[in-house]
Amino acid sequence: MSKVKAGVIGCGNISSIYFQAGQTFDILDIVACADLDLERAQTCAEQFQIPKACTTEELLSDPDIQLIINLTIPAAHADIHLRALEAGKHTYGEKPLAVELEDGRRILSLAQEKGLLIGSAPDTFLGGGIQTCRKLIDDGWIGEPIAATAFMMYRGPESFHPNPDFLYQKGAGPMFDMGPYYLTALINLIGPVCRITGTAKTTFEERMVRTETNYGRRFPVETPTHIAGILEFENGAVGTIVTSFDVWGTRVPHIEIHGTTGSIMVPDPNQFGGPVYIKRQEHPDFVEVPLTHGFTANSRGLGVMDMAHAIVHGGRHRANGEMAYHVLEIMHGFHIASNDGKHYTVKSTCSKPAPLNMNLLKNGLANELK
Ligand SMILES: NC(=O)c1ccc[n+]([C@@H]2O[C@H](COP(=O)([O-])OP(=O)(O)OC[C@H]3O[C@@H](n4cnc5c(N)ncnc54)[C@H](O)[C@@H]3O)[C@@H](O)[C@H]2O)c1
Repeated sequence: MSKVKAGVIGCGNISSIYFQAGQTFDILDIVACADLDLERAQTCAEQFQIPKACTTEELLSDPDIQLIINLTIPAAHADIHLRALEAGKHTYGEKPLAVELEDGRRILSLAQEKGLLIGSAPDTFLGGGIQTCRKLIDDGWIGEPIAATAFMMYRGPESFHPNPDFLYQKGAGPMFDMGPYYLTALINLIGPVCRITGTAKTTFEERMVRTETNYGRRFPVETPTHIAGILEFENGAVGTIVTSFDVWGTRVPHIEIHGTTGSIMVPDPNQFGGPVYIKRQEHPDFVEVPLTHGFTANSRGLGVMDMAHAIVHGGRHRANGEMAYHVLEIMHGFHIASNDGKHYTVKSTCSKPAPLNMNLLKNGLANELK
């Protein structure tokens, strides 16, 4: 079968799962990796038997490479995507698509102009948990979706990250860091969003590192840390979302979708597995549903694999640039609505990505994805 030759740019924490995906999925052949820190790229190349470790410039000028996997930090996403497209390569990146909306638009229009594909994480919505929810909704188990709730609340990454400063700077905070998982899941389950409003609040001006390393170091907060938003979906459903780094504890479910005849409790959208619960009008309480789909363990890279299939066989890849841009606009929209004190009309839209085939129960069958 034809393979897509890919190069990874950004060999940090998240990269190992992508290198593993390159070994799991036959359609991908990761032939090079690059990083600002060349030593890091060399270490990854050795660890995952990647033939070449090099600079970003060398990787982008390699004529054999068709697809860039952009795993740099959010502030570098747009620059790397744009340079990859200029070099004539398809590009898939970690979330978010970009920090600024204008950069997101430039990426989409350059990809279109060049006839290249652009993809973006998260791809957790392709996991067995959320695909099961999608199937339940598509098959009518809860009737028409009319409402949704989504909550991502904890006391902030300084509890586990020794250098969390960057997560409190512009382009981060709980909405930009975690919102992509929740919003992508909601769009996959309900559809695109047309109007939003919200309130964004910076509760503490300063935070303190709470890990053993660096314990007690104080750092400033430069972005809102508690964002409460309302979403109006194009199909008329109304969503409520809260993302927060200010809350010590919560017991509310990650996501619930409420329909005309029942409700679904959706699993953590930052993971691939279950559990999924449903309560139909005739049920006294929620019951657990067996997962209908595969990819329930950490399967990051599934979105790139799906995009590689689209490169080889045509068709629409699911974790695509239009949806990632729609998510980016919604995240900005909550902050804009809060500043302006009024609703924000979302200008972009996207289509619901096609559901995965439920017979793909094992990673080994992944090559038959389309
Ligand atoms: N770490 C996680 O658990 C996790 C989970 C999901 C998503 N992500 C996303 O993955 C991305 C990377 O996160 P990470 O945790 O791996 O970060 P990281 O800081 O560990 O790694 C980023 C790597 O990119 C390199 N880099 C930065 N700018 C570059 C540039 N301009 N050119 C070449 N290399 C560059 C850095 O040197 C570093 O090695 C982020 O977008 C993040 O949101 C991370």
